[in-house]
Amino acid sequence: MSEESKGPFLIGLDLGTTGAKAGIIDRSGSVLDTESVEYGTATPLPGWAEQDPLDWWQASAGAIRKAVKESGINAASVCGIGVSGQMHGSVFLDSEENVIRPCILWCDQRTAPQCEQIDEKVGAKNLSDWVANPALTGFTAPKVMWLRDNEPERYAAVKKLLLPKDYINLRMTGQLATEVSDASGTLLFDIRRRAWSAEMLERLEIPAEWLPRVFESYEAIGTLTAEAAEATGLPAGTVVAAGGADNACGALGTGVISPGDVAVSIGTSGTVLAPAREPVVDPGMRLHSFCHTMGGTWYLMGVMLSAGMSLRWFRDQLGEPERTLAIQQDRDPYELLSDRASGAPAGCEGLIFLPYLTGERTPHADPDARGVFFGLDLTKTRAHMIRSVMEGVVFGLNDSLEIMRELGITLGNVVAGGGGARSMLWRQMQADVFGLPIVTPRESDAAMLGAALLAGVASGVFESVEEACRAAVSYEERIEPDPANREAYERAYSRFRSLYPALKTVFKEA
Ligand code: XUL
Repeated sequence: MSEESKGPFLIGLDLGTTGAKAGIIDRSGSVLDTESVEYGTATPLPGWAEQDPLDWWQASAGAIRKAVKESGINAASVCGIGVSGQMHGSVFLDSEENVIRPCILWCDQRTAPQCEQIDEKVGAKNLSDWVANPALTGFTAPKVMWLRDNEPERYAAVKKLLLPKDYINLRMTGQLATEVSDASGTLLFDIRRRAWSAEMLERLEIPAEWLPRVFESYEAIGTLTAEAAEATGLPAGTVVAAGGADNACGALGTGVISPGDVAVSIGTSGTVLAPAREPVVDPGMRLHSFCHTMGGTWYLMGVMLSAGMSLRWFRDQLGEPERTLAIQQDRDPYELLSDRASGAPAGCEGLIFLPYLTGERTPHADPDARGVFFGLDLTKTRAHMIRSVMEGVVFGLNDSLEIMRELGITLGNVVAGGGGARSMLWRQMQADVFGLPIVTPRESDAAMLGAALLAGVASGVFESVEEACRAAVSYEERIEPDPANREAYERAYSRFRSLYPALKTVFKEA
């Protein structure tokens, strides 16, 4: 280890949908080591998605322990830990703080009837005024109502409701807490006042005492207990930050905290996020309005449910040649899929993929929507199919940018994040379809880095979130749109846009 690597060190933990990733960084944002531990998702019925919070804790503690060991640092030089979490999940706890049932995840689509109830009980105007967001199947409040309607015995045992990362924070510190960015996705939070919405809780008859105290993301909520110290290999007393929602932490970890910049991430889900200095609300509520991890900052966000997940689906179901070659050549199958996709031209000669494998959020908010290959003919190859999956994801993300354009939001640099940003083809596609320059951050695990920076502020390593970003976030590449591809993409995007309205009723009936 070099002289300057003596610390202080910070740990960022990204509690994602497929696993937990712990990273150790120094104050310049250099990553000393990252370690991941995966966990599974149960699908008890089609459209459902559940995970066991105990699996998260085991994976998180294991990933932290391994990262500390592999990095070779002195554990005592870790100043703070911050957690970034998958949003909207419902962790129900009983009076002893035991988990009552598996967590219902952000991508679970079971709550359509409860969303209808919310629409009836609350109405669009109050939703906009009280919580600035519509009732969507993935959000937390409808999950609470689903439990009340479908599992009354479990519902009767509930004493506390936590979001996924807040359960990890509970296991680390013994404190029941949340923070503004994750609370924003519950549909129970007044994003303008950065406090729980008494009106919404009362109207939905959800007990206010179930909800934890709300912090700003960069505040400390407590310190590691002796038991958590034992599990993670860190000293008891290490500061734990409130942390943040994965998208907010991802934006922070790519330096997207001011208006003008846009963070576009292709992870399991895909997001387009634009910061704002005031709580801007899309009058049509097609974009989410959430609190950012920096005080006095909000953001607008569009979410597609199956972004990286679409290519993962292709890899698993139709990508056997690339998977086999990847093993033979010790390469990443996604790299090989991307190589293969570049064999087809921009626009895929009319082949379009609708990436609605698990329904969609923005702009269609439709749990019944499904994936579609449109335009197959005898000339189409696997290269066309792979490329059309990648293009379909970018077109879906562009739908959110179009809404932002319509609202008059300034769009400057797009900072590309998530696993999808590792593919040069996918980055260039984004530049071409968005018609905007794409900047790539040095550190690709943006949510992990963002969470670590929050830990840096909570533990006093940095004075503010802005200072943390200045010290630790830098960029290594800028791609300009290629005018040669413009026409082909414009034609393909217009065809993409016309397909959902044409299929909407068919999706509903299917
Ligand atoms: C955001 C959302 C997803 C999850 C993924 O509203 O549902 O991006 O946060 O972890």
